[in-house]
Amino acid sequence: MLHFYDPSTQSHQPSPESLNPDFDYGTPASLSAELVTIAIDGREITVPEGTSVLRAAALAGINIPKLCASDNLEAFGSCRLCAVEIAGRRGYPASCTTPVAEGMQVTTQTDKLGKLRRNIMELYISDHPLDCLTCPANGDCELQDMAGVVGLREVRYGFEGENHLDAATDDSNPYFSFDPSKCIVCSRCVRACDEVQGTFALTIQGRGFGSVVSAGQGESFMDSECVSCGACVQACPTSTLMEKSVIDAGLPEHSVVTTCAYCGVGCSFKAEMKGEQVVRMVPYKGGAANHGHSCVKGRFAFGYATHEDRIKQPMIRDSIDEPWQVVSWEEALAFSAQKLKSVQAQYGRESIGGITSSRCTNEETYLVQKLVRAAFGNNNTDTCARVCHSPTGYGLKTTLGESAGTQTFDSVMKADTIMVIGANPTDAHPVFGSLMRKRLRQGAKLIVIDPRRIDILNTPHGGEGLHLPLRPGTNVALVNALAHVIVTEGLEDQEFIKNRCDTEAYQSWRSFIAEQRNSPEAMQAVTGVAAEQVRQAARLYAQADNAAIYYGLGVTEHSQGSTMVMGIANLALATGNIGREGGGVNPLRGQNNVQGSCDMGSFPHELPGYQHVADDQVRQRFEAVWGVPIDHEPGLRIPNMFDAAIAGTFKALYVQGEDIAQSDPNTQHVEAALKSLDCLIVQDIFLNETAKFAHVLLPGSTFLEKNGTFTNAERRINRVRKVMAPIAGKEDWQVTMALSNALGYPMHYNHPSEIMDEIASLTPTFTGVSYDKLEQLGSIQWPCNEQHPDGTPTMHTVDFPIGKANFAITEYLATEERASRRFPLLLTTGRILSQYNVGSQTRRTSNSDWHEEDLLELHPSDAELRGIKDGDWVGISSRVGHTVLRAHISERMMPGVVYTTFHHPGSGANVITTDNSDWATNCPEYKVTAVQIEVVSQPSEWQRNFQSFDKRQQALLQPAMDSVGEPHDRTT
Ligand code: SF4
Ligand code: SF4
Ligand code: SF4
Ligand code: FES
Repeated sequence: MLHFYDPSTQSHQPSPESLNPDFDYGTPASLSAELVTIAIDGREITVPEGTSVLRAAALAGINIPKLCASDNLEAFGSCRLCAVEIAGRRGYPASCTTPVAEGMQVTTQTDKLGKLRRNIMELYISDHPLDCLTCPANGDCELQDMAGVVGLREVRYGFEGENHLDAATDDSNPYFSFDPSKCIVCSRCVRACDEVQGTFALTIQGRGFGSVVSAGQGESFMDSECVSCGACVQACPTSTLMEKSVIDAGLPEHSVVTTCAYCGVGCSFKAEMKGEQVVRMVPYKGGAANHGHSCVKGRFAFGYATHEDRIKQPMIRDSIDEPWQVVSWEEALAFSAQKLKSVQAQYGRESIGGITSSRCTNEETYLVQKLVRAAFGNNNTDTCARVCHSPTGYGLKTTLGESAGTQTFDSVMKADTIMVIGANPTDAHPVFGSLMRKRLRQGAKLIVIDPRRIDILNTPHGGEGLHLPLRPGTNVALVNALAHVIVTEGLEDQEFIKNRCDTEAYQSWRSFIAEQRNSPEAMQAVTGVAAEQVRQAARLYAQADNAAIYYGLGVTEHSQGSTMVMGIANLALATGNIGREGGGVNPLRGQNNVQGSCDMGSFPHELPGYQHVADDQVRQRFEAVWGVPIDHEPGLRIPNMFDAAIAGTFKALYVQGEDIAQSDPNTQHVEAALKSLDCLIVQDIFLNETAKFAHVLLPGSTFLEKNGTFTNAERRINRVRKVMAPIAGKEDWQVTMALSNALGYPMHYNHPSEIMDEIASLTPTFTGVSYDKLEQLGSIQWPCNEQHPDGTPTMHTVDFPIGKANFAITEYLATEERASRRFPLLLTTGRILSQYNVGSQTRRTSNSDWHEEDLLELHPSDAELRGIKDGDWVGISSRVGHTVLRAHISERMMPGVVYTTFHHPGSGANVITTDNSDWATNCPEYKVTAVQIEVVSQPSEWQRNFQSFDKRQQALLQPAMDSVGEPHDRTT
């Protein structure tokens, strides 16, 4: 049975097999439990009350013509093509806006209806260019289809009268064009932008014949509020809004359902293909995480996969000052194995390690950590989650007993209060941001805890949100103040606490949090947030029927990141907002497979499934399957690897799909560590910043070139399906496997499904997961095992993995990184919609049209004080480094706080971030760096060095990139 999503119900239950995600049922499903039976063309059908006649007919297999209706949009009733006859009713009601009624007798095909529909189509066609044969939508146009369906044979009105045929095309958007001459003013695009995306960028201007679709106030799409999500393009029944890739390449001829490789939402897409060329990515309605919606990244930014910068052949070199030499896979792997072995022979077993990738599949990540533990013989494996969500793992495991978010995304549709802490969903998790906006439009209350006024606070028709603009670094003080209000104002859920929580832990937490020093009044001086606002927020959260918390890196990337995660869990436990839909603790994971890379045992202390390496029984199970002893000591974390490299005890590193030189804090320190290595093996799709320090470059494969699975932020395991051959001949898992074999530790898998079978055999939360089951269910949310054979949408419904939940004491400790006379401002960092993480993928697409460079956002008062004007170059100095960015003056910032993104390597955002880190997990404190800024006229010294190093490394690469074909034979 396939999981079918119906947008109106946000249902994540399996739906009847008869529902087909590729079919448009015309209007959304009704949620009603009451059933109504009607007859359509003599065929009886029983449907929920509130279902439209159009949908009931579609469910009965009767297709009534339609143009303005679509099952992801509320019925609009403008085209009248769906007219029907209903016994006992006058006229020809539109079936899309007519709900079923018990005993209703509907007729869909009569001569009169046929004539009526032909008349309607005639009017449409008389104002439509007759260039079907050369139109890019020829063969995929609902207007064309309907003309055929209604039997239109002539257009009596002629084409001479007033028309829109000369309307100019708007080509401003890099990905789609808007040709208003083809518009039938069905309003589907406007409604998709309003109802699905929630941006309200489009309007119908004018009336009657003069009605035209307009982006904003007659602006171009690029100048309007449009965020290029593609929902309008998807909704358009004609070629008015059309992907430029289809205009260029023609219509696709086959498609494969796969999963977006950008963010932790994990949207499902149909990769629509012509041979091995992706023509467009169409969001898949059957995708349980996205329900047919998308954002600009997943929808349009796939061109990087075939970019000329792709590394297509393995390369090696003895030193980073030498040019790269193209070699065969065999030689590259033999070279790597020999280097790793000789380093271990000289410096010991612990002198090498590996870094797994949160962009790669579960299966690939599993193999890298297995390679480290089984072939390297140590536990020196870590992942980029170290620098983002490792505190989530620690904090949630400590309090709730499992290192993962508790809900489905759809759960937000049942939340009455939504608290967003240190996350920016409309930019970083856009499809979920749209769902959240939908719920806000339905009346849910919003609390945002963030130094910046983020866009979710400006949700059109979303009500007035409560913004608590706290000082960076004071999260724990604020969460304690919220909890203080809850316990001292009697807002706790005593029943839940009694039944579900550890009494002793609760009592000691309660007496700690009730202390006056944790009150909003006492904490006001620390957080900068007015006590009354904190009290209001606490009441709004605690008194809601269902209250949900969503948080991001603004929580975790602090010296008290783990403490804050526990503070959030405490809030949810104290108010009983765990274990049911509408509530929960929801970490919004950044990269596509951060959840999966953590689940797969990437951390040095945990085998897959968060099973500790020190546990003898756990190790024995893995040893029995892997056939080698596993070290019982946790290995090095990434920052420890860097320190050990500089100290000379860590000498070789295998990095799959991560760009630690750009993404990790204190760039100079990271560069020094990478330069200290005897052997750096980088497996990636481009020469990224890390690869410039490498001795072996193994071509990586994009998500389009491999099979596997990603696990999104709601623990949903989604299939990644290969749509084209890997550019260098190997999928990433095959490369790791080959490296292992070259090292003498045998690995043999024919397909990633076999790797998943091994994962399932060793990981209690995955025992029920298999590729067959994924095909059957569409996706699976772990835990999936004997107790939960179809997976677990909502966690902790009955009990916690640790039995009773554990309140944790969350003492606020101020970070060492404070504003001072020398560094009076606090810098915090984040992401923007169009770029993704280190930007190596999105910078190689037209997404850069929206964000060409990282800017420094600052409040007008801070700018005025320093004589900074918008667009000026400003030098930013912290105690560890100095960089230069262009200023962007913005009221979104609070005075005293500046902000930037880190999508462009030359910006050097991490040159200034320090190596302060979370006390429990070493997650860096990216969100708080004390800085000073001033107007400058030239790049920083680091930036100048970066540019010359980059130029040199590009020059060392170029001959290898030019030498297509035969690898260089080093033996001759
Ligand atoms: S692309 Fe998205 S945001 Fe832009 S107009 Fe269309 S629906 Fe609205
Ligand atoms: S642009 Fe397309 S979806 Fe929008 S009104 Fe015109 S035909 Fe309908
Ligand atoms: S929301 Fe995330 S997963 Fe979905 S299309 Fe955008 S980047 Fe991809
Ligand atoms: S489809 Fe019903 S009025 Fe357009």
